[in-house]
Amino acid sequence: MTHLTIRRPDDWHLHLRDGAMLTGIAPESARHFGRAIIMPNLIPPVVTGDQACAYRDRILAALPEGADFTPLMTLYLTEQTDPADVVAAHRDGIISAVKLYPAGATTNSASGVTDFDKVRGTLEAMAEAGIPLCVHGEVVDSDVDIFDREAVFIDRVLEPLRRATPGLKVVMEHITTRQGADYARAGGDTLGATITTHHLVINRNAILVGGIKPHYYCLPVAKREEHRLALRAAATSGNATFFLGTDSAPHIDPLKENACGCAGCFTATNTLSILAEVFEQEGALDKLESFASLNGPAFYGLAPNEARVTLTKGDPVNYPAKIETGDGSVTVFDPMMPLHWRVEE
Ligand code: DOR
Ligand code: ZN
Repeated sequence: MTHLTIRRPDDWHLHLRDGAMLTGIAPESARHFGRAIIMPNLIPPVVTGDQACAYRDRILAALPEGADFTPLMTLYLTEQTDPADVVAAHRDGIISAVKLYPAGATTNSASGVTDFDKVRGTLEAMAEAGIPLCVHGEVVDSDVDIFDREAVFIDRVLEPLRRATPGLKVVMEHITTRQGADYARAGGDTLGATITTHHLVINRNAILVGGIKPHYYCLPVAKREEHRLALRAAATSGNATFFLGTDSAPHIDPLKENACGCAGCFTATNTLSILAEVFEQEGALDKLESFASLNGPAFYGLAPNEARVTLTKGDPVNYPAKIETGDGSVTVFDPMMPLHWRVEE
């Protein structure tokens, strides 16, 4: 096969940031994606419907003329979140989901949740209104090894939370483990899971072998090879539980190449070419559309995009090593393999 036409994909987990960074990187996602779930972990975080509305306006203003891209906004869940504000923002079409960060789990997560009893009312109101909860699934306990934090989160937090709030739609964001894929697969139609592009490509060796490679560091951190293989099997299975959420997360190079480097891989620029390569390697090009364009909207109760994109196989694709923004340069994720599938523009 040398041509593949699929529905225009969506990105169900994306960091667009704000200000000059937003202006610099928004075109990278708008080029190939129809919609994206926009993460609310700005400084300060997006915690009210009014803030989400204002942030959406800033994103729309940053898009290139004629872009076919709709930001789907989220609110950042805190222990002070007002359930009525969440329900109203969803009813008014301002937000599509709410994001749960365990406090301290990742970049700008200090305002996240420590005491889950304090968000019980909001979770119950969301279940009632059909508002999905997007979950960063890692415990932050200092006695839990960073490579075990996702698996432990499922047992200690996610399963009790879902039992306590029947009917709540939950997205396990950026799963990185076999345990995550297995739990999601068994979770029925109220449970979905996003998988990033980079976790299909790298295991933890990419970060650590031959010198420390900060551009492969993200959270949840990449795990052993057996987990990468489990994620590839899940993504390429066609199972409607699994859909693309790139977690493309730009940081300027000085903050990545640093004694205390930020977490995040920036994949917006070359995600579709990488995915086509991965799905072809798995003999599953026919499942790429389910993963990138169909399963996500189905979970969120939306129609797939009407527009199509065509990928064409040929000589290795050129893409920029860095995106220059008004804040500084952002390194594009290097999949360490030639990419042969070009997105027709
Ligand atoms: O690697 C990550 N970067 N993981 C997250 O959860 C947050 C993100 C960011 O905002 O940079
Ligand atoms: Zn993220």
